[in-house]
Amino acid sequence: MTAPDLRPLIVGSGIAGLYVALRGREAGLAPTIVTKSRLDESNTRYAQGGIAAALGPDDSPARHLADTTAAGDGLVDPAAARILTDEAPRRIADLVRFGVPFDTADGQISLGREAAHSRARIVHAGGDATGFHIEETLRARVLEAGIDIRERTVLARLTPLPDGALVATLAQDGGGTEEVRAAPVVLATGGAGGLYRHSSNPAIATGDGFAVAFRAGALLADMEFIQFHPTAFARPGAPRYLITEALRGEGAKLVNAAGERFLPSGAGRGELAPRDVLCRAIRRELDRSGADHVYLDATGIPRDRLDARFPTISRFLATYGLDLSRDPVPVAPAAHYTIGGVATDLEGRTSLPGLLAVGEVASTGVHGANRLASNSLLEGLVFGERAVRQLRRSSPGGPLPPPVVLDLPSPPGEGEDRREARLAEVQELLWADAGILRSAGGLAAADRRFAELAREAEPPEGTLPGPGANAVVAGRLIVRAALAREESRGAHYRVDFPRPRATWRHALGLRRSPMPSRGERRARRA
Ligand code: SIN
Repeated sequence: MTAPDLRPLIVGSGIAGLYVALRGREAGLAPTIVTKSRLDESNTRYAQGGIAAALGPDDSPARHLADTTAAGDGLVDPAAARILTDEAPRRIADLVRFGVPFDTADGQISLGREAAHSRARIVHAGGDATGFHIEETLRARVLEAGIDIRERTVLARLTPLPDGALVATLAQDGGGTEEVRAAPVVLATGGAGGLYRHSSNPAIATGDGFAVAFRAGALLADMEFIQFHPTAFARPGAPRYLITEALRGEGAKLVNAAGERFLPSGAGRGELAPRDVLCRAIRRELDRSGADHVYLDATGIPRDRLDARFPTISRFLATYGLDLSRDPVPVAPAAHYTIGGVATDLEGRTSLPGLLAVGEVASTGVHGANRLASNSLLEGLVFGERAVRQLRRSSPGGPLPPPVVLDLPSPPGEGEDRREARLAEVQELLWADAGILRSAGGLAAADRRFAELAREAEPPEGTLPGPGANAVVAGRLIVRAALAREESRGAHYRVDFPRPRATWRHALGLRRSPMPSRGERRARRA
């Protein structure tokens, strides 16, 4: 088969999408970036903590690997995690070369400490504005490089062709649909945190990439592992703004309304215990007290340290009349990160020829059942670099061919109000039944409701799925996987199976069942 004359299409503009586009450009390719909102709007932009890399004199990739493996609770893919931790320092050097202004002291990159890391190894920028600086820097380089960008455009459908190429159906905000043949397509669409009622993610993180890949027949894995962050701002009417773990790394303490510490001694490392341990401890304290938040008390940290290290959080809290150095901050858990996703090999290849997946939308196996803090931006970089190698193998240069414009009607009745109502229902269902504490009863009830929603939301033949339908597909994948995994491991906690089980020490794949043939359908009806 001759290589088709096609160009890479990158879907998403967080760290993974922008980095792949830039490195692809440096390799002589001419990628197009398609992004759901503005080029600079993504989960990356809101990342506070930073990126983990073994850069300190007392550290090594082997230690970083050991911490990553321990956090992943028996499910980390050793080969993937070795690559992640070995290649981390080189990828940080790439970001420095692109101009990301990491914080330094005495000419060396400053390293912070976060939960479940045995060493200080978190590089950060602007104190707690790491994601903002990365996003802004990479965006500036992408614009300078003249990379083709299509904002406010979503990938609505992927259709595999027999020659290994994919037809990507793109839908612009406000109408207009086009189809492009592209090989490869790089999914870098981020996670599904926005499908939960309480989430640290921006509203756009609604799991579209999972839904599109699933519909196209790609294999997904480990969707039950949703990581909750223990400390998001919790004030009625305010966003669940992330209050970074790095504050606990500096010594901030969790207390209840009476100012008492409540973490059980079993939490091991206290405030630096893994996130799932802290989330369950907070959830139990809230159930006990009837309150809807606990407090993060950073008043023991010197004010000049707080100002230097956490300027963004300090500014945010000031708008609510709070001062980190004087006031304990109301916090509660929020959905934060989708650990599972579209299953890939070590080069970003999915089970669907021509489709690569990178970053939060991908499941490389590096996080196992629970992601170590600040390994997520890193995953986008490390596996993004590997995906670029694949792009080089399969793509010639030049811009995308002109689009074939189609006129596909939106699903009937899929107005803005209905979409929002459907999303709100998905958010309530997931928060209630596929949240921090899960059970067979709750998950089975949610699954039944998702089946009804899926019947309602799935587009009729010849129309495109809307965002409400994607939310239903992605939410249902999470519920299905959580119901199937009858154990507790990492970020997945089942009150009816409160311990890990040896028989479940494996990944859980999800794939759409093939459409039955007409003959099979007839036989089933008979
Ligand atoms: C944080 O800053 O607490 C979040 C970092 C992460 O999720 O890796």
